[in-house]
Amino acid sequence: MEETKQLIIAIDGYSSCGKSTLAKALAKSLNLLFIDTGAMYRAVTLFALQNNLLDSEGQPDSKKLEQMLPAIDVSFDISQSIQNPVILLNGENVQNEIRSVEVNANVSKVAANSLVRKKLVEAQRKLGRTTHVVLDGRDVGTVVFPDATVKLFLTASPDIRAQRRYTELKQTNPSFNGTIEEVKANLLERDHIDTTRADSPLVKAADAIEIDNSDLTMEGQLELALQIIKNKYSQLQK
Ligand code: DC
Repeated sequence: MEETKQLIIAIDGYSSCGKSTLAKALAKSLNLLFIDTGAMYRAVTLFALQNNLLDSEGQPDSKKLEQMLPAIDVSFDISQSIQNPVILLNGENVQNEIRSVEVNANVSKVAANSLVRKKLVEAQRKLGRTTHVVLDGRDVGTVVFPDATVKLFLTASPDIRAQRRYTELKQTNPSFNGTIEEVKANLLERDHIDTTRADSPLVKAADAIEIDNSDLTMEGQLELALQIIKNKYSQLQK
């Protein structure tokens, strides 16, 4: 009997384009393991903040950060759900802490560090090897899994992204009192750092399918993605 090919869905794109929302919905529909690779970079950033490894500009002290890397364990607790696992930093649930304004402001700089990337990419490949999986991030289709079954590249207009992020921050963080303009400025700054860094910059893979979801509902986006995946996967099984 022919073995079923492992399904790896890579979703890349700019900040706040709804990548995780789509990835979670796909994980639920198709019963896949969901890996939020951004959450992993956020967990390392949280560790760096907690251990004073960043200067006042948010630049990591690369030497200190790299020395501390073996002491940073980032993993996922899948005991409750594979479709929405809980991110752990050295065994502790940091699901909420990694969404703070401080982590938002510093994560792109930490994610630009090559040794941090090397460590997390290795961990992502290990996780992705075990089962059918959907991962979202910036370099999943280009670096982590260049041979992913399906690659999606999400985009949306900066104003819509800022509005979505602002609403999310208001809902999840009661102490948040920033403005939508500040949120947009942070998004654009992160876009700039993510697309211009030397190591694994955010680019659309040549074989990725772009979805602009500015005018799509979540259901519409899910339907479109499922159609793309179905077509691609059935072609591969032939
Ligand atoms: O998806 P997110 O906003 O949670 O990602 C947080 C940051 O981590 C983002 O600024 C870019 C970085 N990141 C990355 O460099 N590579 C990934 N695969 C995922 C995220």
